[in-house]
Amino acid sequence: MTAAAQQFIAPLTFAALTGHKVITDLWTPEGSDPGDASSAIEHIDAAQSTDALVVAPATADILAKFAHGIADDFLTTMYLATTAPVIVAPAMNANMWNHAATQANLEILANRHVRIVAPESGYLACGMVGAGRLAENRGIVDTVLSVLLHRNDLAGETVLITAGGTREALDPVRFLGNRSSGKMGYAMAEAAQRRGARVILVSAPTALRAPANVEVVPVVTTQQMRDAVLGRLDQASIVIKAAAVADYRPRSQADQKMRRKGPLTLELEPTEDILAAVVEQRRPGMLVVGFAAETEDVLAHGRDKLLRKGADAIVLNDVSREGVGFDSDRNAVTFLTRDRAIELPELTKRELADQILDEILTLRSPRKEVLSESDPDLSMSLGEQG
Ligand code: PMT
Repeated sequence: MTAAAQQFIAPLTFAALTGHKVITDLWTPEGSDPGDASSAIEHIDAAQSTDALVVAPATADILAKFAHGIADDFLTTMYLATTAPVIVAPAMNANMWNHAATQANLEILANRHVRIVAPESGYLACGMVGAGRLAENRGIVDTVLSVLLHRNDLAGETVLITAGGTREALDPVRFLGNRSSGKMGYAMAEAAQRRGARVILVSAPTALRAPANVEVVPVVTTQQMRDAVLGRLDQASIVIKAAAVADYRPRSQADQKMRRKGPLTLELEPTEDILAAVVEQRRPGMLVVGFAAETEDVLAHGRDKLLRKGADAIVLNDVSREGVGFDSDRNAVTFLTRDRAIELPELTKRELADQILDEILTLRSPRKEVLSESDPDLSMSLGEQG
């Protein structure tokens, strides 16, 4: 308990209700001998033995300290020392919540993959009405469980992901390209790796650093991306095509830099459809998920692509919307299957990546039911997981 928490509830009450020791101080934990050296490193022990660090309620002060690495009490020191997932459930006055400083700190924490359980709106302890009320327990518990249960649910899978925009050369210095930054595909790769998958990331040129523990295969053109994907297809159990692939390339490339001499007509030819080739060559049990970037009649075009390409699902982006889609850190998508259209809310691409993986995993359920028919025990445990 921080000093602020102890203003609301006495540590003894907390200890009696939880049946656990309550730590209140960095140097002399409750009941320990101040001369005992082990007490001085208790935050390291606690940090290393914890499965998840949950701060509920999290004050504006704690969010600021976490965001800026200030370690001046047990909790803030433990935050720096732990590698476990961190979940914060903020609660504060509405103006404090809306303050640019608090929002900037939340953004820093979200980018560091701290899970934030957003506060609710309503009457606040200070008498105001607005955002800042601690989320319901159910929401906090669900988040903690989803963080903990997520951690290994892709173990055993090899996920092949494409990212970025392919480039088709016009001459030695120019190319036809598109606005894809690769952020969505890289976020998918990082999320899948964190959840236990082996990840192969076939990446067109981007300015991004490769996620840790991911095998990156750099490519430039659509033809190279096709060769890289199809050459590794036999290793993959899930294929996710987040890349924005050039649909056309110049029929011929100039050997030397083209000179400017009035109007120019380029002759283009269609590129290979990699997604269609993947669907054609898929092995039984392999999941194939495409992305689609659309600017009008988004749902209709998405459905058409899903059926035409034969993928299991299409992650549909409305790239005409401000602040999401190409090059943004945020996105909002519809996860489209033959019988469902699930709207996923606007989130950071990294957060959304986890939600997309959740939806992809639900596509596996029918297969698990078939597998489980021969094994009643397995059937029961899979049934319990829904
Ligand atoms: O990279 P970011 O800046 O983060 O932006 C993310 C994104 C908007 C690029 C991404 O989320 C996205 O929507 N990617 C797909 C964009 C796209 O090219 O869509 P499409 O409708 O042209 O293609 C549909 C699907 O077919 C895609 O999975 C694409 O990879 C695949 N395709 C397309 C053409 C082609 N020749 N071969 C393919 O495999």
